Amino acid sequence: MDIGPGFWWQVVILVIIGSAAYAGVSAAPWVPTLKKERDNLVTNGPWPEQGEVVELGCGDGRLLFALARRYPRLTLIGYEISILPYLVAQLTKLSSRKKYKLVQIRFKSLFSADLSGVKVVYAYLLPRSYPRLLRFIQANLATGGIFLLEGWPFEDRPYSHKIEIPGGLPWYQYNYFELSSTEPARSILF
Ligand SMILES: C[S@@+](CC[C@H](N)C(=O)[O-])C[C@H]1O[C@@H](n2cnc3c(N)ncnc32)[C@H](O)[C@@H]1O
Repeated sequence: MDIGPGFWWQVVILVIIGSAAYAGVSAAPWVPTLKKERDNLVTNGPWPEQGEVVELGCGDGRLLFALARRYPRLTLIGYEISILPYLVAQLTKLSSRKKYKLVQIRFKSLFSADLSGVKVVYAYLLPRSYPRLLRFIQANLATGGIFLLEGWPFEDRPYSHKIEIPGGLPWYQYNYFELSSTEPARSILF
């Protein structure tokens, strides 16, 4: 039996669809942050001038690239496991290597992200992933770190700020101590 190029294209498409389905089940499908949400986050978010910022489930990296344009000294790391948005993010990075030299897109599960020394962590995921997400953040957020959650808050944790966006989803800010748990944090920031 001859295996033609059509077969391999089908395999590629299936792998891409499979990775998107896996991401959807794991924490959320790819639903890009709206421009008004992104602009608000970039302008009003608690971003440091330098240091590391991580996005858990970064999609095509549009928030990270917007932050890179505004804060050129920030190291911006995104974790993504769906192949299509990951490739779009890598192409965007290639399109302007100089402007985006401090942006890194990692093809890796957000639940294995390295948060040691990270000042701000951001995520926009479905609430059904929150029990696992909260455990992960509690165990890994650096002391003094800030966690931003777009869309919906954790049910049983107080947030320090809620920022409403007309026509968009709000985002919630949690400081390290509002998320504190019995688990040790990996590193101390401030
Ligand atoms: C709601 S979208 C966020 C999109 C992003 N903010 C943007 O504007 O493109 C959630 C993202 O998380 C990714 N995702 C879901 N589960 C993941 C996991 N376990 N590890 C890494 N990324 C994951 C999805 O593929 C999706 O791109």
